[in-house]
This record gives sequence, C-alpha cells and structure tokens, in this order.
Amino acid sequence: MSITPTPHDDAAGLVPETAGTSLLEPREVFDQQLFEREMVRVHGRSWILLGDTEDLEQPGDYITARIGLQKVIVIVGRDGSLRGFLNSCRHRASSLCDDPAGNTGRFLTCPYHQWSYRLNGELAVVPDQDRMYGPDFDRADYSLVPIRIEVGWGKLVFGCLSARTPSLRDWVADLGPRYDRMGIESTRRHPRELDQVYTMNWKVFLENANDDYHVRFVHPRPGSQIDPLGTRNLAEGWVCSSYKPYDRDLDPGPDFPHGPSFDGTGFFADFIFPSVNPLVPVPGQLVTVRNEPLTPTSTRLVTRVYTSDGDEVAAEELLDEIDRTNTEDTDMIAVLMEGLRSPFLHVGPAASWERRSAHVMDMVRAETAREIAPGEFTHSGAAR
Ligand code: FES
Ligand SMILES: [Fe+2]
Repeated sequence: MSITPTPHDDAAGLVPETAGTSLLEPREVFDQQLFEREMVRVHGRSWILLGDTEDLEQPGDYITARIGLQKVIVIVGRDGSLRGFLNSCRHRASSLCDDPAGNTGRFLTCPYHQWSYRLNGELAVVPDQDRMYGPDFDRADYSLVPIRIEVGWGKLVFGCLSARTPSLRDWVADLGPRYDRMGIESTRRHPRELDQVYTMNWKVFLENANDDYHVRFVHPRPGSQIDPLGTRNLAEGWVCSSYKPYDRDLDPGPDFPHGPSFDGTGFFADFIFPSVNPLVPVPGQLVTVRNEPLTPTSTRLVTRVYTSDGDEVAAEELLDEIDRTNTEDTDMIAVLMEGLRSPFLHVGPAASWERRSAHVMDMVRAETAREIAPGEFTHSGAAR
C-alpha cells in the first residue's frame, strides 16, 4: 500500500481480488501519471501504425500522426525516400503542420517564427538569424529529430521511437508471411474512412478489441456466414490473431492460423500491438482499425478499408458493417468506463476466449514496468 492511501486502498475488501487474473482493473484506467508513462514506455517502444503509402508518393508528400503523446511526421524526400521526424520544431513547441496528409513543397516551415527545414530534416533558414542569434549559431545543431520508419507489405507505414526495438518484420513475426500472400501492396484505400474520438481509455478498447467471448452477444448477426462458435485464437509476442471459420467443420490443421490452408476459409481479426487491429474478411480485403490514445479517458479510432478489386459498393458495405460493429463495441465500452470508476470492484477471471485480451494487458504491464535502457531513445543522426 502506498504512503497516501488511494481510494482503491480505502475501498479494499468489499470485493475479493481474483487470483491470477490479467484483465484490466479499475485502478489502471483513470490515472494520469500511469497513462503518461504508458505513452513513453509502451507506445514509445512499439511499432505504431501511422498511415499508408498512398499519401506518400511525390517529394514533399507527408502524413502526420502520433506515437503516444508525441506528434510525428513522415515525408517523402527529394530523393524519393521516406523519412520520419518528430513533428516538433527545434525552436519551441510548435508542430510543423497538422493536416493529416498533404504536400509541403520544398520546405517544411514552422508557422510560429518560420524556421524552415529541408525535406531531409536539415534546418535551412532561420529568419533574421544574425540579429536574433549572433554569429555562433549553427543551424546544423537544430535539424529535425529523425525517427525509425518501416513500411509493412508495401502499404502500411509504421514508426518507432526506440533504437532497441526489433525490426517491424520481427515485430509482426508469423503474421508477416500470411499478409505477404494477400497482395496488400496492390490494394487501394477506399475514399471514405471512419474517424472519431470516444470517451474511453485505450486499454479498455484493446481489451475489447481482443475479446472473442463477447462477439456473439454484442454483435449478433443472424444468418451470418461467419460461425463465431468455431472461433480459434492465438496470442504470441506482439501479435494476436482470431479466426472465425465460414465452415465450422473445417479442421484447423497444424499450420493454424498463419498457414496457406486457412487463406479465405474464414474471417481473421488480428492485432499488431499496440496500435492496430487489422481485419481480413477475405483475401484482397483489409480493414485497419487504428487506435490513438489522447488522454486517460479519450481515444481516437481511425478505420480504413482497402480492396484489391476496386468494388466501391462492397467497400461501402464493409465500412458500414465495421461502423456498426465499432458502435456496438464503443457503446459497451461506455458502460464499462462507468463501471470501472468503482474503487471497490475487482474484475474476475479471463475466459479462454479472452486469452488475447489477457495477453495484451500482460504485455502493457510488462512494458510499463520495464525501465528505459540507456540510449533507448537516441538515434544515430539525431541532432542534439
Ligand atoms: S516554434 Fe518553430 S520557429 Fe519558433
Ligand atoms: Fe466487439
């Protein structure tokens, strides 16, 4: 117990704790300090989905996003290569641009005092430099701070702040070859997307998004082709996968879930820790539900649909279905957010179909407890 008892300490005893449960407890949801630590230790060390290459084709094209509470920008250089930077002017706290995507021309110019950066991050212009800073000012000391960027499957752009995190390919492990077979690179993004901020803690969303137990109760779909009772799930490392067969009698063989024999035989709901739930209804269709934590009680969800056949009607139907599912989930989460206000409550045991939720909560706790190693956030080429 801490020196100053928390409301949870004061309220201990009414509800017994459940030994060995990994599900999210009320005391982990509303704490601002814990949230800020998670944003550095969990998000700062993870590969975070930032957007896709469709917005990054010409020199000067950029996308903006966040890794935890840090704004970042990915931009195409004059040499055609992708670079990522903190979206933070080296002068003061202004971001360089906040549009989700666009083209900046030859320079990134800060709106506040108009320090201007080349597309490779070098500081090119400081207005009135001699009068403001004198002769010893060296612009080379104030380049934009680079971050790691990797593109998954020729399409999905991920960023990472930690020098010690393994490559994206290692991060996604066995999911990599399965998605390689899907031809994601040749899909196109449907023009409409869903983008909404919800009153929910990001971990409550993660727990829900990896919970296979609630599906047939919260998302009843009479007559659906998908058989929820045939659900199989797997949680290993940074990736979780759930599979619902279109034919319950299909035997999930030894190469489950990533082997080729499962392609097209069911609905996959995957998770790449901690920022994105990719859904694969059928080969050639991909849905990404990206979560962006904003505060302990608000989280943004951005949902995009990618298709390989250009069938806009099918893409609209799919997006409508995901919208309905998101609404059902976030309505349920709103109820949970109220319930989790209780300092008296302790949650119960995880069901076998909450295996993914429990695994993800364990991962969050382990990363949050792990000390930052020396040099973890230092990158070669980073300006001071
Ligand atoms: S904050 Fe960017 S130029 Fe001053
Ligand atoms: Fe759900």
